[in-house]
Amino acid sequence: MYFDERRTHFLEDRLQRRLKEQRLESFYSYYRLLISDKGKEELSRLLEDLTVNETSFFRNKAQLDLFHKYILEDLFRHKQETRQYSLKIWSAGCSTGQEPYTLAMLVADGLGYFQLRNPGVRSASYPKPLIPAPWNVEIRASDINYSVLRAAENGTYNESQMASVDYNYRLRYFDKLGERYAVKKALKELIQFDFHNLKTEYLPQHNDVIFCRNVMMYFDEAEQKRLIEKFARCLNPGGYLFVGHAESLLGMTDKFSMIYRNSGTGYQKVAGLP
Ligand SMILES: C[S@@+](CC[C@H](N)C(=O)[O-])C[C@H]1O[C@@H](n2cnc3c(N)ncnc32)[C@H](O)[C@@H]1O
Repeated sequence: MYFDERRTHFLEDRLQRRLKEQRLESFYSYYRLLISDKGKEELSRLLEDLTVNETSFFRNKAQLDLFHKYILEDLFRHKQETRQYSLKIWSAGCSTGQEPYTLAMLVADGLGYFQLRNPGVRSASYPKPLIPAPWNVEIRASDINYSVLRAAENGTYNESQMASVDYNYRLRYFDKLGERYAVKKALKELIQFDFHNLKTEYLPQHNDVIFCRNVMMYFDEAEQKRLIEKFARCLNPGGYLFVGHAESLLGMTDKFSMIYRNSGTGYQKVAGLP
């Protein structure tokens, strides 16, 4: 994690909180605790305090429209032509789950509509599955913070978290449980939640699309460049990468080209790369 001058105050404040909780007097004694045998648990508490977990359903509508209307359509068509009916999407830095659940809703809708217009192999099963045969959709959602991952797996949200989910989506993909909304089982089953530190080398491979939004902005430039290179390796040929509104790959890599449509921005791995 990288903290520039604008964020050192935040870092100090969060460290002070941990010191107080541990009844320690100095940053140095806290550092000694972190590197001791007992430090592992504390390090994970500290990480939970240091990560920024802000997120929402349908965040950055223009970008999601680009994904939904153009990119998914292209992917479905290409996959149908090559008879590879599987789609792999990774939400890297998924926080409390709103991003991967949004993607799952968009993919389920998009695929249903695609099948309607391009009937290939028809499935007669009833009730109609969320993902029509022979398609297989896997969405991996990962984060470095265990408590947000638990909330994501739990998949229940209050009214204010649901503000950006319209009536139609609420009806189809959520059950009302008292005051909260719970993601329906069928949608949840499309997603696999996992702990991953994006700084490590071992990351999920063979993705068609990676969403890593509002995560890289907390890394320094060298780390951002390393991550972009790793994402290029984690994507299938011609795969897509989406980063946050305030993040850009401009001048950072020659492995991706930019796609821009109706104010939505995404990146595609350049042709010819394995
Ligand atoms: C601001 S949230 C963004 C959530 C979602 N992607 C969105 O745009 O709404 C950033 C998330 O990245 C996670 N994160 C930060 N550093 C990470 C790392 N090194 N590896 C994996 N996840 C990380 C944080 O825990 C946090 O949940």
